[in-house]
Amino acid sequence: MSAKLIKGPEVATAIREQIAIDMASLKEKTDKVPGLAVILLGEDPASKAYVGNKEKTSKALGFHSVVHRIPVETTQEDLLKMIDDLNNDEDIHGILVQLPLPDHIHEKAVLDAIAVEKDVDGFHPINVGNLVIGDDCFIPCTPHGCMKMLEYIGYDLKGKNAVIVGRSNIVGKPVALLLLHQNATVTICHSHTADLAAVCREADVLIVAVGRAEMVIGDWIKPGAVVIDVGINRVGDKLVGDVHFESAKEKASYITPVPGGVGPMTITMLILNTLESFKRKHNLK
Ligand code: GUN
Repeated sequence: MSAKLIKGPEVATAIREQIAIDMASLKEKTDKVPGLAVILLGEDPASKAYVGNKEKTSKALGFHSVVHRIPVETTQEDLLKMIDDLNNDEDIHGILVQLPLPDHIHEKAVLDAIAVEKDVDGFHPINVGNLVIGDDCFIPCTPHGCMKMLEYIGYDLKGKNAVIVGRSNIVGKPVALLLLHQNATVTICHSHTADLAAVCREADVLIVAVGRAEMVIGDWIKPGAVVIDVGINRVGDKLVGDVHFESAKEKASYITPVPGGVGPMTITMLILNTLESFKRKHNLK
Protein backbone atom coordinates (compact mmCIF):
# COMPACT_ATOMS: atom_id res chain seq x y z
CA MET A 1 0.00 0.00 0.00
CA SER A 2 1.14 3.55 -0.60
CA ALA A 3 -0.57 6.12 1.58
CA LYS A 4 -2.51 9.09 0.28
CA LEU A 5 -0.93 12.40 1.22
CA ILE A 6 -2.73 14.94 3.39
CA LYS A 7 -1.28 18.08 1.87
CA GLY A 8 -1.04 21.02 4.26
CA PRO A 9 -1.00 23.71 1.56
CA GLU A 10 -4.17 22.26 -0.01
CA VAL A 11 -6.08 22.14 3.31
CA ALA A 12 -4.74 25.55 4.36
CA THR A 13 -5.76 27.13 1.04
CA ALA A 14 -9.34 25.90 1.44
CA ILE A 15 -9.52 27.49 4.92
CA ARG A 16 -7.80 30.70 3.79
CA GLU A 17 -10.35 31.09 0.98
CA GLN A 18 -13.10 31.04 3.59
CA ILE A 19 -11.16 33.53 5.73
CA ALA A 20 -10.88 35.90 2.74
CA ILE A 21 -14.67 35.74 2.23
CA ASP A 22 -15.26 36.43 5.96
CA MET A 23 -12.78 39.30 5.90
CA ALA A 24 -14.62 41.06 3.09
CA SER A 25 -17.94 40.94 4.92
CA LEU A 26 -16.44 41.89 8.31
CA LYS A 27 -14.69 44.88 6.82
CA GLU A 28 -17.95 46.03 5.30
CA LYS A 29 -19.79 45.66 8.62
CA THR A 30 -17.17 47.23 10.91
CA ASP A 31 -14.89 49.27 8.65
CA LYS A 32 -12.03 47.65 10.60
CA VAL A 33 -9.69 44.69 10.11
CA PRO A 34 -8.34 42.15 12.61
CA GLY A 35 -4.90 42.94 14.03
CA LEU A 36 -2.21 40.42 14.95
CA ALA A 37 0.90 41.34 16.96
CA VAL A 38 3.89 39.01 17.13
CA ILE A 39 6.89 39.48 19.42
CA LEU A 40 10.17 37.81 18.54
CA LEU A 41 13.16 37.97 20.87
CA GLY A 42 16.54 37.35 19.31
CA GLU A 43 17.80 35.84 16.10
CA ASP A 44 17.02 32.10 16.21
CA PRO A 45 16.81 31.19 12.49
CA ALA A 46 13.83 28.81 12.82
CA SER A 47 11.86 31.31 14.94
CA LYS A 48 12.71 34.11 12.49
CA ALA A 49 11.41 32.01 9.60
CA TYR A 50 8.16 31.12 11.46
CA VAL A 51 7.54 34.75 12.40
CA GLY A 52 8.29 35.91 8.85
CA ASN A 53 5.69 33.47 7.53
CA LYS A 54 3.11 34.63 10.07
CA GLU A 55 3.68 38.24 9.02
CA LYS A 56 3.51 37.44 5.31
CA THR A 57 0.34 35.35 5.59
CA SER A 58 -1.55 37.77 7.81
CA LYS A 59 -0.68 40.71 5.53
CA ALA A 60 -1.67 38.74 2.42
CA LEU A 61 -5.11 38.17 3.95
CA GLY A 62 -5.53 41.89 4.69
CA PHE A 63 -4.88 41.74 8.43
CA HIS A 64 -3.23 44.57 10.35
CA SER A 65 0.12 42.96 11.15
CA VAL A 66 2.62 44.20 13.74
CA VAL A 67 5.90 42.40 14.40
CA HIS A 68 8.18 43.49 17.25
CA ARG A 69 11.64 42.05 16.59
CA ILE A 70 13.52 42.84 19.79
CA PRO A 71 17.00 42.00 21.09
CA VAL A 72 17.56 38.70 22.87
CA GLU A 73 18.75 40.57 25.98
CA THR A 74 15.44 42.46 26.39
CA THR A 75 14.44 42.30 30.06
CA GLN A 76 11.34 40.50 31.27
CA GLU A 77 10.06 43.81 32.63
CA ASP A 78 10.32 45.47 29.21
CA LEU A 79 8.69 42.48 27.51
CA LEU A 80 5.78 42.52 30.00
CA LYS A 81 5.37 46.27 29.40
CA MET A 82 5.20 45.64 25.63
CA ILE A 83 2.54 42.96 26.18
CA ASP A 84 0.56 45.28 28.43
CA ASP A 85 0.57 47.96 25.72
CA LEU A 86 -0.67 45.43 23.15
CA ASN A 87 -3.36 44.22 25.60
CA ASN A 88 -4.64 47.81 25.63
CA ASP A 89 -4.27 48.45 21.90
CA GLU A 90 -7.73 48.65 20.28
CA ASP A 91 -6.35 47.69 16.86
CA ILE A 92 -4.80 44.42 18.09
CA HIS A 93 -6.98 41.32 18.48
CA GLY A 94 -4.32 38.63 18.73
CA ILE A 95 -0.94 38.59 20.52
CA LEU A 96 1.72 35.92 20.10
CA VAL A 97 5.13 35.76 21.76
CA GLN A 98 7.27 33.37 19.75
CA LEU A 99 8.66 30.47 21.83
CA PRO A 100 11.16 29.35 22.99
CA LEU A 101 12.19 32.36 25.05
CA PRO A 102 15.74 33.01 26.29
CA ASP A 103 16.63 31.58 29.71
CA HIS A 104 16.43 34.88 31.64
CA ILE A 105 12.71 35.16 30.83
CA HIS A 106 10.11 33.21 32.77
CA GLU A 107 7.84 31.71 30.10
CA LYS A 108 4.86 31.33 32.40
CA ALA A 109 4.98 34.98 33.48
CA VAL A 110 4.88 36.00 29.82
CA LEU A 111 2.07 33.68 28.76
CA ASP A 112 0.00 34.64 31.82
CA ALA A 113 0.41 38.34 30.96
CA ILE A 114 -1.32 38.09 27.57
CA ALA A 115 -5.00 39.10 27.83
CA VAL A 116 -7.14 35.95 27.68
CA GLU A 117 -9.32 37.44 24.93
CA LYS A 118 -6.22 38.15 22.76
CA ASP A 119 -4.40 34.86 23.50
CA VAL A 120 -4.62 33.47 19.96
CA ASP A 121 -1.98 30.84 20.80
CA GLY A 122 -4.35 29.37 23.42
CA PHE A 123 -1.51 29.09 25.95
CA HIS A 124 -3.02 31.18 28.79
CA PRO A 125 -4.07 28.94 31.73
CA ILE A 126 -7.70 30.08 31.39
CA ASN A 127 -7.78 29.04 27.73
CA VAL A 128 -6.04 25.76 28.62
CA GLY A 129 -8.59 25.14 31.39
CA ASN A 130 -11.49 25.82 29.04
CA LEU A 131 -9.98 23.43 26.52
CA VAL A 132 -9.85 20.72 29.20
CA ILE A 133 -13.53 21.12 30.09
CA GLY A 134 -14.58 21.53 26.46
CA ASP A 135 -15.73 25.13 26.81
CA ASP A 136 -15.20 28.06 24.39
CA CYS A 137 -11.49 28.89 24.08
CA PHE A 138 -8.73 29.61 21.62
CA ILE A 139 -7.49 26.21 20.47
CA PRO A 140 -3.66 26.03 20.15
CA CYS A 141 -2.74 26.39 16.49
CA THR A 142 -0.78 23.23 15.68
CA PRO A 143 -3.21 20.82 17.39
CA HIS A 144 -6.11 22.68 15.74
CA GLY A 145 -4.36 22.26 12.39
CA CYS A 146 -3.98 18.50 12.97
CA MET A 147 -7.70 18.22 13.68
CA LYS A 148 -8.59 20.20 10.55
CA MET A 149 -6.49 17.77 8.50
CA LEU A 150 -8.42 14.82 9.93
CA GLU A 151 -11.67 16.66 9.22
CA TYR A 152 -10.53 17.36 5.64
CA ILE A 153 -10.18 13.64 4.87
CA GLY A 154 -13.56 13.00 6.53
CA TYR A 155 -12.08 10.85 9.29
CA ASP A 156 -14.53 9.87 12.05
CA LEU A 157 -12.59 9.56 15.33
CA LYS A 158 -15.39 8.01 17.36
CA GLY A 159 -14.13 4.83 19.04
CA LYS A 160 -10.76 4.94 17.27
CA ASN A 161 -7.43 4.42 19.03
CA ALA A 162 -5.45 7.65 18.84
CA VAL A 163 -1.82 7.55 19.95
CA ILE A 164 0.22 10.70 20.42
CA VAL A 165 3.98 10.55 20.70
CA GLY A 166 5.09 13.62 22.69
CA ARG A 167 3.49 15.37 25.67
CA SER A 168 4.35 19.04 25.12
CA ASN A 169 2.03 21.84 26.19
CA ILE A 170 2.12 23.18 22.61
CA VAL A 171 1.09 19.99 20.78
CA GLY A 172 0.86 16.67 22.65
CA LYS A 173 -1.42 17.59 25.56
CA PRO A 174 -3.86 19.86 23.67
CA VAL A 175 -4.18 17.49 20.69
CA ALA A 176 -4.97 14.67 23.15
CA LEU A 177 -7.85 16.71 24.55
CA LEU A 178 -9.19 17.56 21.10
CA LEU A 179 -9.12 13.88 20.08
CA LEU A 180 -10.84 12.96 23.34
CA HIS A 181 -13.59 15.53 22.68
CA GLN A 182 -14.13 13.73 19.34
CA ASN A 183 -14.63 10.44 21.24
CA ALA A 184 -11.34 8.78 20.35
CA THR A 185 -9.59 6.56 22.91
CA VAL A 186 -6.39 8.45 23.56
CA THR A 187 -2.92 7.37 24.65
CA ILE A 188 -0.09 9.88 25.19
CA CYS A 189 3.42 8.45 24.94
CA HIS A 190 6.62 10.06 26.19
CA SER A 191 10.25 9.30 26.93
CA HIS A 192 9.33 6.88 29.76
CA THR A 193 6.74 4.90 27.79
CA ALA A 194 7.51 1.18 27.90
CA ASP A 195 7.61 -0.44 24.44
CA LEU A 196 6.72 2.63 22.41
CA ALA A 197 6.69 0.60 19.18
CA ALA A 198 3.99 -1.74 20.54
CA VAL A 199 1.81 1.20 21.65
CA CYS A 200 2.19 2.87 18.24
CA ARG A 201 1.17 -0.38 16.50
CA GLU A 202 -2.25 -0.10 18.22
CA ALA A 203 -2.91 3.33 16.73
CA ASP A 204 -5.64 3.96 14.17
CA VAL A 205 -4.46 7.56 14.27
CA LEU A 206 -0.85 8.29 15.11
CA ILE A 207 0.25 11.86 15.85
CA VAL A 208 3.97 12.36 16.32
CA ALA A 209 5.40 15.52 17.90
CA VAL A 210 8.69 14.74 19.62
CA GLY A 211 11.28 16.67 17.62
CA ARG A 212 13.45 13.63 16.79
CA ALA A 213 14.21 13.09 13.13
CA GLU A 214 12.55 9.99 11.59
CA MET A 215 12.13 8.27 14.96
CA VAL A 216 8.86 6.50 14.10
CA ILE A 217 9.41 3.87 11.41
CA GLY A 218 7.04 1.95 9.18
CA ASP A 219 7.35 -1.18 11.31
CA TRP A 220 5.61 0.71 14.19
CA ILE A 221 2.57 1.58 12.11
CA LYS A 222 -0.66 -0.39 11.98
CA PRO A 223 -1.67 -1.13 8.37
CA GLY A 224 -4.19 1.51 7.27
CA ALA A 225 -3.43 3.97 10.09
CA VAL A 226 -3.61 7.74 9.59
CA VAL A 227 -0.24 9.32 10.41
CA ILE A 228 0.19 13.00 11.24
CA ASP A 229 3.80 14.08 11.50
CA VAL A 230 4.23 17.35 13.38
CA GLY A 231 8.04 17.26 13.46
CA ILE A 232 10.28 19.50 11.38
CA ASN A 233 13.96 18.57 11.73
CA ARG A 234 16.91 19.77 9.72
CA VAL A 235 19.17 16.89 8.66
CA GLY A 236 22.05 18.24 6.58
CA ASP A 237 20.35 20.43 3.98
CA LYS A 238 17.05 18.50 4.16
CA LEU A 239 13.95 18.93 6.28
CA VAL A 240 12.50 15.70 7.65
CA GLY A 241 9.69 14.86 10.06
CA ASP A 242 9.62 12.77 13.23
CA VAL A 243 8.31 9.90 11.08
CA HIS A 244 10.43 7.97 8.59
CA PHE A 245 8.29 8.89 5.59
CA GLU A 246 9.44 6.29 3.06
CA SER A 247 8.75 3.27 5.28
CA ALA A 248 5.65 4.77 6.96
CA LYS A 249 3.88 5.53 3.69
CA GLU A 250 3.94 1.81 2.81
CA LYS A 251 1.83 1.03 5.91
CA ALA A 252 -0.41 4.05 6.43
CA SER A 253 -3.63 4.87 4.56
CA TYR A 254 -2.99 8.62 4.91
CA ILE A 255 0.15 10.49 5.89
CA THR A 256 1.29 14.12 6.12
CA PRO A 257 4.58 14.85 4.31
CA VAL A 258 7.36 17.06 5.71
CA PRO A 259 7.65 19.71 4.42
CA GLY A 260 4.16 20.37 3.04
CA GLY A 261 2.20 18.87 5.93
CA VAL A 262 1.23 20.37 9.26
CA GLY A 263 3.45 23.51 8.94
CA PRO A 264 1.12 25.64 6.78
CA MET A 265 -1.83 24.63 8.97
CA THR A 266 -0.35 26.17 12.13
CA ILE A 267 -0.20 29.64 10.58
CA THR A 268 -3.67 29.32 9.12
CA MET A 269 -5.10 28.42 12.52
CA LEU A 270 -3.36 31.45 14.05
CA ILE A 271 -5.09 33.65 11.49
CA LEU A 272 -8.41 31.90 12.14
CA ASN A 273 -8.06 32.49 15.90
CA THR A 274 -7.29 36.17 15.31
CA LEU A 275 -10.36 36.47 13.11
CA GLU A 276 -12.38 34.74 15.84
CA SER A 277 -11.08 37.22 18.43
CA PHE A 278 -12.08 40.13 16.17
CA LYS A 279 -15.58 38.69 15.72
CA ARG A 280 -15.97 38.25 19.48
CA LYS A 281 -14.92 41.83 20.12
CA HIS A 282 -17.44 43.14 17.60
CA ASN A 283 -20.21 40.75 18.71
CA LEU A 284 -20.27 39.19 15.25
CA LYS A 285 -20.37 35.56 16.36
N1 GUN B 1 7.08 28.02 18.84
C1 GUN B 1 6.82 26.87 18.17
N2 GUN B 1 5.49 26.71 17.98
C2 GUN B 1 4.90 27.80 18.54
C3 GUN B 1 3.55 28.21 18.65
O1 GUN B 1 2.60 27.54 18.21
N3 GUN B 1 3.34 29.40 19.29
C4 GUN B 1 4.37 30.15 19.81
N4 GUN B 1 4.06 31.29 20.44
N5 GUN B 1 5.64 29.78 19.72
C5 GUN B 1 5.89 28.62 19.08
